Amino acid sequence: MGHWFLVNWQRKRQMEVKAMDVHLSLSNALINRKSCRSYKPYEITDTEIDLFKWAANQAPHASPHRHYELICVKDQITKNKICAACMDQKYVSDCSVVMVFCGTEEDKTLRQGHPKYVFDSAAACMCSDLMAVSMGYQTVWIGNFIPESVKKILNTDLRPTIILLVGKQT
Ligand SMILES: Cc1cc2nc3c(=O)[nH]c(=O)nc-3n(C[C@H](O)[C@H](O)[C@H](O)COP(=O)(O)O)c2cc1C
Repeated sequence: MGHWFLVNWQRKRQMEVKAMDVHLSLSNALINRKSCRSYKPYEITDTEIDLFKWAANQAPHASPHRHYELICVKDQITKNKICAACMDQKYVSDCSVVMVFCGTEEDKTLRQGHPKYVFDSAAACMCSDLMAVSMGYQTVWIGNFIPESVKKILNTDLRPTIILLVGKQT
């Protein structure tokens, strides 16, 4: 991925979503980003989700590699289950895509003692967040959840670290 991906994605998107051709600058995305807790039904395409993932990949990470994996959930039943694991924060069910950043190699720490996966997950989450906002979506981070429950729902051994909701505000 990289420039090639971005150019092709933009071409594809111009064809797919003519009506919603929003692409804000970074400074405007920063100005517009505010936590959104009320979403309307809206289908985000897989091509757009690929761009959120691409943005996550652009984040810096603690050497030698990324200490997170990203699981994106669009399926309503799974979103409802994750919602329950997020202390029933209703907007988890209502948003278009739930992006779960899961830490890997939990035992690996920086020399100052903090776990690498927390930094890597948070940096990636922020990049996806700003990309989504620049594309005209709204977002909120979800840190208030029961990790063991989210793990079970996603059928993963990885540690859910931070969740990003993306969708269209009501
Ligand atoms: C690590 C982290 C965890 C968060 N967890 C939640 C959460 O579980 N539920 C929620 O509604 N907002 C959550 N937030 C969003 C914050 O409440 C919000 O970013 C903060 O109040 C500032 O508001 P703003 O995002 O509109 O600028 C979280 C934010 C961060 C950075």
